[in-house]
Amino acid sequence: MTQPLTDLLARRSTGFSLERQFYTEPAVFAADLDHIFYCDWLFAAPACQLTKTGSYLRLRIGAYNVIVVKGADGAIRAFHNSCRHRGSTLCQATEGQVAKLVCPYHQWTYELDGRFLWARDMGPDFDLSQYSLRPVHLRELCGLIYICLAEDAPDFDPFAALARPYLEVHDLHRAKVAHTTTIVENANWKLVWENNRECYHCGGTHPSLCRSFPLDPEIAGVSADGGISPRLQAHFDACEAAGAPARFRMEGDGQYRLARMPLQEGALSYTMDGKPAVRRPLGRVAKPDAGSLLKFHYPSTWNHFLPDHALTFRVTPIGPQETEVTTTWLVDRDAVEGVDYDLKRLTEVWIATNDEDRQIVEMNQGGVNSPAYRPGPYSGEQESGVEQFVDWYVRTMQRQLGPRAVAAE
Ligand code: FES
Ligand code: FE
Repeated sequence: MTQPLTDLLARRSTGFSLERQFYTEPAVFAADLDHIFYCDWLFAAPACQLTKTGSYLRLRIGAYNVIVVKGADGAIRAFHNSCRHRGSTLCQATEGQVAKLVCPYHQWTYELDGRFLWARDMGPDFDLSQYSLRPVHLRELCGLIYICLAEDAPDFDPFAALARPYLEVHDLHRAKVAHTTTIVENANWKLVWENNRECYHCGGTHPSLCRSFPLDPEIAGVSADGGISPRLQAHFDACEAAGAPARFRMEGDGQYRLARMPLQEGALSYTMDGKPAVRRPLGRVAKPDAGSLLKFHYPSTWNHFLPDHALTFRVTPIGPQETEVTTTWLVDRDAVEGVDYDLKRLTEVWIATNDEDRQIVEMNQGGVNSPAYRPGPYSGEQESGVEQFVDWYVRTMQRQLGPRAVAAE
């Protein structure tokens, strides 16, 4: 039996998890790619990951294959990773460094800025100017690279204007990559996000993270009435007095949120003992107990920015029940491993937390796969963030689909 996706969206029960098809059906997954991932701005990587001229990284988003590359002029650009001759993939590795972009098939060669440079035996009438690499929209915001696959990208400026003051104090242009991990979670990308948007599970799942991250639902969620507690207001005020924008802002129709949230009493960073992981701070947050600037930006990234280091997370859907999560730890470029930080101490909490999250998200997918699964109710106190994400998803899909129907089984 075929059920139009528009009908599934329309009959969704507010306050309940989504119906099974949203997490299982290839047709819904294809629609998620078409109407969200192929349309919106997506976080690609921290700019400092591309250290030298010719440094590149390759990203796969659904059917798209993109290279992000640093030019000789220092500018970072993105191109479709498809040769203008007969379409071969240009860069095979996930990252690397090249002098020119050379197609491995027949050696058509491109400049790092995408311009066509050279090909063999194409005849006297061959017009070089017609065969530059096809560009992908790219914006760099305070050391974070975003790309957009759409022909006409949505306006990036409202997000940039909101986020810039929060991010600027972290000086990501001074950052270097201390470590990066990529894991695959065998679950739909929406389950990965739903899990991220609540800490209802944290007490039972994350013994390491709970040493520093508070279980207070106000920290992970969104207040139903828009109000905040006096304790949190006092934290925001103290951070802002110290020059670090902090107050809760959620805009873009709920697509992005920024808030500098306190950690557990006495904790300064995501370490087992709560003490800073890096002796040399990253950025200019003068208040050591400023906590973590929590930023999410659907559908591709959540981040934590602390006074001593920063963490970026990139969410990439691979299949209906397969999602890649890449985590990158950033420290000041002058911080020396073994002197200013110990890599195990810096990374152990989130390596453990990511794996714990992978396990519970995969358990979630396993149960949702059963035909016996029925949408269940959210905790008003604990899961306001999950409901906010699902509301955003449903609204976005309804806006994108309009009156059209996409068949889902
Ligand atoms: Fe790239 Fe032929 S497909 S050179
Ligand atoms: Fe978790």
